[in-house]
Amino acid sequence: KSLRKLNSFGVDVNARNFVEITDREQLTELFLNKEVSRQPLLILGGGSNMLFTHDFNGLVVKVNIKSISSTEEGDDVYVHAGGGEVWNDLVMYCVNNGFCGMENLSLIPGSVGAAPIQNIGAYGVEVKDIFHSLEAFDITSLSFRTFTKEECEFGYRESVFKGRFKGQYIICSVNFKLSKTPKLNTSYGAIETELKNRGIEKPTIKDVSDVVSHIRVSKLPDPSTIGNAGSFFKNPIISAQHFQSVVTAHPDVVNYPAGEGKIKLAAGWLIEQCGWKGKVVGHTGTWKNQALVLVNHGSATGKEIFDFSARIIQSVNEKFGVELEREVNIF
Ligand code: EPU
Repeated sequence: KSLRKLNSFGVDVNARNFVEITDREQLTELFLNKEVSRQPLLILGGGSNMLFTHDFNGLVVKVNIKSISSTEEGDDVYVHAGGGEVWNDLVMYCVNNGFCGMENLSLIPGSVGAAPIQNIGAYGVEVKDIFHSLEAFDITSLSFRTFTKEECEFGYRESVFKGRFKGQYIICSVNFKLSKTPKLNTSYGAIETELKNRGIEKPTIKDVSDVVSHIRVSKLPDPSTIGNAGSFFKNPIISAQHFQSVVTAHPDVVNYPAGEGKIKLAAGWLIEQCGWKGKVVGHTGTWKNQALVLVNHGSATGKEIFDFSARIIQSVNEKFGVELEREVNIF
């Protein structure tokens, strides 16, 4: 089975076996099969955060469990969504119903089930800020388990599902806790500026969603026309001491406080300073408006994109003494 249409980089690789799950009950049956449990396994959501560097000699399970519902309790709204729902469809459901909390996460590609794995975030909000709990299938014990927010151990683009429990659980559904009273987060500079441009003084949930969508479209390539996986690297977090040496050599380095004794640097800026922004190298390169996004200009192989990312890591390291870490999952 070709995975080209199932990964947002549009890389053409094949999987030996492929199965799509539309109902959580199918999971137990699937994993009771000895043939299945013996092969290497890859769980696929929207495929928007992965880079395949070669064919996959195992079983790809695509989670396509759908459903969205909500329960209101006073001012709170609990929204329950199947892991296979398209993330932005869920955001639009919430925005249209006047449920506040997800609007800053408008237009992020990918599925609902994948969102907690890397604690997706944008424009001052992360999934952990609106997360309540999730239900996952344990492929070892063949049982379902609920994870609370604390149990997910969320961090910057991190969770227990990327760390300790990597590959062990399939996320079937997620519960979010939103609010019916708008508590909008418009502190991110680009949102503020765009609201001002539009002459909006008292924004609604929908205004913020529209503005965020507008900013994303203007900065980020649309994966349906240009293959990409959003930010390819994390913004590096370094110690205050390390930061001193970087800022001494490069006084205009873009940085943000990241907790006690820690500073986060803008990886896009570091990459741009190395001269990579908008560069086309073979069939790959970085995006013209956002150097942190690597793109497939058509027929790039995963290996070609991966090798290009290694050159970027090397030049940022040579120029700034900072080691970039890939955010995208490599297979
Ligand atoms: N910058 C440059 N050159 C570039 C890109 C960025 O100088 O080519 C500078 C910008 O001028 C700005 C700073 O870097 O001062 C930050 O840029 P931006 O606001 O575009 O955000 P980012 O840090 O590059 C992060 C997330 C994005 C998220 C945006 C908005 C990570 C790895 N990325 O990007 O998330 O949409 O903030 O909140 O944290 C993703 O994870 O896939 C993703 C797209």
